[in-house]
Amino acid sequence: MALISLTTILLTLQLALTVTLGASGHLKCTPESFTSNLPPSATLEAVSRVPENGTYGEGPLVDIPHPENATNIPSLCAVTVRVQSSPSSSYRLGLFLPDHYESRFLMIGNGGFGGGIHWFDMAIGPRNGMAALSTDTGHNSSATEADWALNHPEKQIDWGWRAVHGSAELGKDIITAYYGKSPGHSYFMGCSTGGRQGLKEAQNFPETFDGVIIGAPAWWTTHLNPFLTRVGLTNLSPTSPTYISPTLFPIISQHVLFQCDALDGHIDKIISRPDLCHPDFSPLLCSSSSSSSSPCLTQSQITTLQNLYSPPTNIHPGLSPSSEPQFSSLLSNTLSPYGLGYIRDFLLNNPTFSPQDASTLDSLITLADQLNPGNASANYFEGMIDYAKRGGKVLLYHGMADGLVPMDGTILFYTKTVETLDKLGMVPEIDDWMRMFLIPGMQHCFGTPVEVGTNAPWYFEGPFQGFSLKSLPDEQTQDGNVIRQMIQWVEEGNQVDNMVARTWKDSFDPESEGKKVANISKWKGNWESTYDA
Ligand SMILES: *[C@@H]1O[C@H](CO)[C@@H](O)[C@H](O)[C@H]1NC(C)=O
Ligand SMILES: *[C@@H]1O[C@H](CO)[C@@H](O)[C@H](O)[C@H]1NC(C)=O
Ligand SMILES: *[C@@H]1O[C@H](CO)[C@@H](O)[C@H](O)[C@H]1NC(C)=O
Ligand SMILES: *[C@@H]1O[C@H](CO)[C@@H](O)[C@H](O)[C@H]1NC(C)=O
Ligand SMILES: *[C@@H]1O[C@H](CO)[C@@H](O)[C@H](O)[C@H]1NC(C)=O
Repeated sequence: MALISLTTILLTLQLALTVTLGASGHLKCTPESFTSNLPPSATLEAVSRVPENGTYGEGPLVDIPHPENATNIPSLCAVTVRVQSSPSSSYRLGLFLPDHYESRFLMIGNGGFGGGIHWFDMAIGPRNGMAALSTDTGHNSSATEADWALNHPEKQIDWGWRAVHGSAELGKDIITAYYGKSPGHSYFMGCSTGGRQGLKEAQNFPETFDGVIIGAPAWWTTHLNPFLTRVGLTNLSPTSPTYISPTLFPIISQHVLFQCDALDGHIDKIISRPDLCHPDFSPLLCSSSSSSSSPCLTQSQITTLQNLYSPPTNIHPGLSPSSEPQFSSLLSNTLSPYGLGYIRDFLLNNPTFSPQDASTLDSLITLADQLNPGNASANYFEGMIDYAKRGGKVLLYHGMADGLVPMDGTILFYTKTVETLDKLGMVPEIDDWMRMFLIPGMQHCFGTPVEVGTNAPWYFEGPFQGFSLKSLPDEQTQDGNVIRQMIQWVEEGNQVDNMVARTWKDSFDPESEGKKVANISKWKGNWESTYDA
């Protein structure tokens, strides 16, 4: 009796759903399906049906930081919406709503100061049965341009946190309306600025995501960005005796690799124990007798290098040995746009400001801590604990060979989180909800220093990884797919103990033979127990 009526109820419900949603279980991919569900602050910009194995994007002329289309995507509905965030600012968001949908939501992060929807990485969502979202963070620019922020606090706030939070909220509402129910679980993945975005949202709005994948996070904006300028300043100007010409970078890279490769017990052109690596540059010291043809370093140049690895501790952790092949991103003849743009366009609102010396930079860091423009810094550790208490998971990773955002900054984030837990009584313990992976030989978010012969595995279907490949790998793996690992952790309680990274004979071409795999275990609180040789 009871059984029959339950079946009847279910059948009636199913019938009702079929009528309102159609046989496919979701609304039609037409403007009408969306306009009626948007709040007054939002306007619909585009709705487009993408067929199986299709492509979607806005192209290099419209989406400056993400010129590559998403490719090989399952059939889906692509939607673009603009949201007014204040009288003088607005942000855009893009959504992929796949036909094959397993009730999961994935938000994709941005990079640098980039203002554009990250359609390429959004494809990771539909390929895994998830609805995906990305925002342009409220402006339109390449990753290195910050002049849109000049004298514009509202745009700074959009970039700092508001566009991510607002897009995630509205995205969930649109997904709920489209599929007729709210997403069962919500995830975030991002690297660099994207890592900062995910941490910021978790700290301030612990309910938004159930799991966040955080790569090479540029989390400490008020210190990191001025630090990048400080690093660059140590190598200016070309007429200074401390200046190291980029033509010397290759011998410095080779020298550090030669000295430190074996410290982990394997001579494999990969430095896996940067903590033990304290490069001694004296063999490269120019002697009065050395011929002018062999490259060498002066004592002043060696001091410049030592400052890069070990800046004053209250500023920011320094670069790790093995980051040398990316030196040119910070030590060129012009100061890093990430540092200088932040100082000029966010902090001082003075587009011609030129810092003169390290002490100027140190006082700018003090000012940045006071003003925290756009509220961008993700250093609210108590918020991380709130996120943990409500069941949120964090997977942190950082490439050991990162030459743009120092890896030691991520170790600092982890350590400060542990300290905050200690202060609050260790509930829940860090290992239950936050795990960190340091990837030997991986550079900033993707890639490996092939310049010095390193071919370290680095690909795990993470943010900013697919676009650098010549083609996407055919094989689908569970362990080598960071979003699937996170889903397992959140939904099945299978904690992530290892990350599995891949590379190929040509590190960027999955069709080249010679696949190489690294099985990287989680950080166990210190170097010795994590990387015992
Ligand atoms: C998907 O499309 C690309 C070209 O856009 C093509 O090379 C590839 O073979 C297609 N794959 C399938 C499974 O249809
Ligand atoms: C990118 O996708 C758009 C549709 O969004 C399409 O019009 C365009 O042709 C695609 N570009 C390429 C290079 O595939
Ligand atoms: C971004 O700016 C470029 C000009 O620099 C323009 O062509 C493009 O349409 C803009 N994109 C958007 C989404 O407004
Ligand atoms: C800035 O972020 C902090 C937490 O990091 C939050 O408490 C505060 O309300 C935010 N302020 C603004 C103006 O957004
Ligand atoms: C990685 O190593 C762990 C043990 O440390 C093992 O359980 C796991 O199966 C390995 N994964 C792969 C893909 O080799």
